[in-house]
Amino acid sequence: MTANHTLTEVQKKTTPAQPPPSDALVFFGATGDLAHKQIFPALQNMVRRENLNVPVIGVAKSGWTIDQLRDRARDSLEKHGGGVDEKAFAKLIELLQYIDGDYQNPKTFQELRSKLGTASRPTHYLAIPPSLFAEVVEALGKSGCARDARVVIEKPFGRDLASAQELNATLHSVFPESSIFRIDHYLGKEAVENLLFFRFANTFLEPIWNRHYVDSVQITMAESFGIAGRGRFYEETGAVRDVVQNHMLQVVALLAMEPPTSMYFESQRDEKVKVFRSIPPLDAAHTVRGQFEGYTSEPGVAAGSQVETFVALRLEVDSWRWAGVPFLIRAGKRLPVTTTEVFVKLKQPPLSILSPGVNHFRFRLGPDLCLGLGAQVKRPGAGMASIPTELLAVENDKTEELEPYERLLTDAMRGDATLFVREDSVEAAWAIVDPVLGDAAPLHRYQPGTWGPGEADRLGANVGGWHNPEPSACGPVTK
Ligand code: BG6
Repeated sequence: MTANHTLTEVQKKTTPAQPPPSDALVFFGATGDLAHKQIFPALQNMVRRENLNVPVIGVAKSGWTIDQLRDRARDSLEKHGGGVDEKAFAKLIELLQYIDGDYQNPKTFQELRSKLGTASRPTHYLAIPPSLFAEVVEALGKSGCARDARVVIEKPFGRDLASAQELNATLHSVFPESSIFRIDHYLGKEAVENLLFFRFANTFLEPIWNRHYVDSVQITMAESFGIAGRGRFYEETGAVRDVVQNHMLQVVALLAMEPPTSMYFESQRDEKVKVFRSIPPLDAAHTVRGQFEGYTSEPGVAAGSQVETFVALRLEVDSWRWAGVPFLIRAGKRLPVTTTEVFVKLKQPPLSILSPGVNHFRFRLGPDLCLGLGAQVKRPGAGMASIPTELLAVENDKTEELEPYERLLTDAMRGDATLFVREDSVEAAWAIVDPVLGDAAPLHRYQPGTWGPGEADRLGANVGGWHNPEPSACGPVTK
């Protein structure tokens, strides 16, 4: 009997045919911040790579004309899109239409229905505040714009488990789950996807990637900037809702999941939700919340705000593979560096005949990308002492790399939901963080430019302390 290590015949049969691509792209919130920072640059790149050749309809309520939207698109590309590519931009302008209308007014959606013309499988992208999701979804349903359509939903998806369930129910009253694409832009990052590749496209990791050899896993998402003028948003959010429930737990899932049974997109999503379900809900005793000094003077922030701009957590993954291995997560604003780094520490060798040291894998997920393998080598000289070193692979070639929004919008238009968050996953992730939302754990102040409040140290005490990412681009860890 021969084993087929690619797609087996059975898997091929159970993998549905590729769905047809969308034939129009509608984006709500066309005059907003997200469109300016992310969507227009993504659209220009999609045109440039010949992945967008259908009507693109922007919708917003700003009292604008199509010319103003075109100017805004140009400005977006100049400021955030790496410049205007005149050929691609001309094409984008040709595709671009605009509806200026109130989301509460049925006429807006009648106009949309008529602008969609013969398009029968549009993608509706809701780049709007969450408070507007429900009314837009319902209006899409009533106007006939939702028929055979897809809907892309921006984060945050709810603000706790109950509101996420409610939002799912609203969406499902109009769209089937197979047509719902929940964005977590971390999943569109090349380096984050690479975690899956590194784990499952190589043989050497599998025997050691478990509780027998892994001592602890740490993930730090550090940002040296503050809340960047988003005071009002942040007051409603805080670090747990903003980046832990979504981005950081997705990274945990990629590190901890079992191999997907095939490349069929549900296989990957099935494995991720199993990880979330094996993580017990967090508790306040293993949660340290912090707020940087000066946060309450930011515009839009309440004087006595108890919202956290830093959080450190310790969680368990109660699976056969990971039982007993601590997973430490830390995220914060105004920390010493901006980077997201995963640090997987291996157990020490069984005997210390030669001076033993720590081995590690270090995945730097951005903004610079690299992979470090920490090992001990002999310290040159007469003695038999070791010295830590790190084998470093640095990703320099970014020519083929797609920015997350381009990647995700291209996938959604193709109907590929691999990198989008499924209903059960989003709810399971909320169930993990629900007990530590709000002021469940006390708040500690920290000085900007530090690694958060000292109270976080106790969470890392029995794994040798927190690993603080270096500021320099992918500099080796030699400690
Ligand atoms: C967003 C958060 O989802 O992710 C921000 O709302 C955070 O607070 C950002 O800064 C980080 O993403 P990236 O891609 O810039 O690392």
